[in-house]
Amino acid sequence: MAHRPTRSVLYIPGSNTRALEKAQTLAADAIIFDLEDAVAPDEKSGARVMLAQVLAQADYGQRMKIVRVNGLDTEWGAADIAAFSGARIDALLIPKVSSAVDLDAVAALAPDVALWAMMETAQGMLNAGAIAAHPRLTGMVMGTNDLAKELGSRFRADRLPMQAGLGLCLLAAKAHGLTIVDGVFNAFKDEDGLRAECEQGRDMGFDGKTLIHPAQLAIANAAFAPSEAEITLAKTQIAAFEAAQAAGQGVAVVDGRIVENLHIVTAKATLTKAAAIAALQ
Ligand code: COA
Ligand code: MG
Repeated sequence: MAHRPTRSVLYIPGSNTRALEKAQTLAADAIIFDLEDAVAPDEKSGARVMLAQVLAQADYGQRMKIVRVNGLDTEWGAADIAAFSGARIDALLIPKVSSAVDLDAVAALAPDVALWAMMETAQGMLNAGAIAAHPRLTGMVMGTNDLAKELGSRFRADRLPMQAGLGLCLLAAKAHGLTIVDGVFNAFKDEDGLRAECEQGRDMGFDGKTLIHPAQLAIANAAFAPSEAEITLAKTQIAAFEAAQAAGQGVAVVDGRIVENLHIVTAKATLTKAAAIAALQ
């Protein structure tokens, strides 16, 4: 299923007026306006009111607008959901979703908006399939910092300790046709580290990466877009396959590799994605 591009998904603390304004011109495919962990407890109520005003007035263009609310197990969750469930946003992002029942509770309070789930607890990993199957869910966001905290795992450049959780959520999202974006890279001045992690997530099948700083946008946008070489190869494969079919053959060969119908599905998806990204510029 084709989704809107979500190569770069930028978190903005809902209390940061300067960043909220700046984001109207930043090259982010999507913005997560955060009321949860990026906002201090005594600022939560004020941030909720201010963010509602900003979203009612400011123009974020084609950028997807996602509001991350506090959990229903906190004193702010219900009011956050009430404040944004009728707003013109693309999704409400629910933190620490551990089971489909967690989503039922939110769905009842917010009947008119798509839901996204933060996947960041051990229970959430184990229940990823049931969570992804929830009829109101359209997206998943990996919360790798919270997951590492819960697992007691250490940071490694190869993210070996994260692979089980990333893989389970990826399988669940793909099985149900959801968008899924990778977790953040904390060292926002380390460009090479970010690029490597983006490429790892892209190679696994993630649709994009969550980001914490504008300096990370260009790297994620490049990593998660089809490259010129991939676009050229896709066109070559499609042409070769059509020629083979016209000659009565079911398979073609390009660059010494077999091209079957299933590769053509991927090639067409690559071109569709490239066109969707080009339409954003
Ligand atoms: N979105 C939009 N703009 C941002 C931004 C963000 N996430 N982070 C920084 N900026 C802006 C700043 O306002 C500043 O703008 P200006 O120079 O035009 O005034 C510019 O980018 C440069 O910022 P910089 O000084 O390098 O960063 P900082 O020290 O002010 O902030 C962080 C660093 C990490 C605190 C900040 O980037 C941040 O709060 N990120 C989001 C954290 C978050 O939401 N976490 C929750 C999910 S993990
Ligand atoms: Mg979290």
